[in-house]
Amino acid sequence: MENQITLEEANELLKKYLHEPHLLHHSRETEVVMRALAQHFKEDEEFWGITGLLHDLDMEVIGGKAENHGTKTCEILAEEGFDMPGMFKAIKSHVETLGFLDVKRETKLEYCLSAAENVTGLITAYALMRPEKLEGMKASSLNKKFKSKAFAANVDRELINDIEKTGLQKNEFFEIAIKAIQNISSEIGL
Ligand SMILES: [Fe+2]
Repeated sequence: MENQITLEEANELLKKYLHEPHLLHHSRETEVVMRALAQHFKEDEEFWGITGLLHDLDMEVIGGKAENHGTKTCEILAEEGFDMPGMFKAIKSHVETLGFLDVKRETKLEYCLSAAENVTGLITAYALMRPEKLEGMKASSLNKKFKSKAFAANVDRELINDIEKTGLQKNEFFEIAIKAIQNISSEIGL
């Protein structure tokens, strides 16, 4: 029987399994971008937000073993008493391009999660090099950074481009994501 997790329970788990500030910020940034995308698509904001918040829950326990990434998060959530097949599939599909798991992105939620978690890396890397940080950041200038492959090279551009498989244009996605992260700028120190 599906046993949905609440935001409070999700934040408890985050504190239990993640300690590195940049991973906590990344999780929170991905949450707010997923909430903004859920609003855009008129989807379940709480479910999309929590999926974003928890997508990297296993990053410190896998000890760098990328082949366990995603699967371990679902194991942890199941051990903690949660059974959420939709969230588990989305979390496993976000590592599709690593090539270890045969779980493909197919739904809006899954394409959004992979694009959202990558765009947070692009936005924060760009903010760190701007004197104004996030303030006044424009989608058009972020797009220039997106096109220069050497900038934030660990950001998967293909997964960001795939946002268009949901019907949302990349530029509008950048606007939605920038605004969502600007709203928590004091929380993440940017
Ligand atoms: Fe991530």
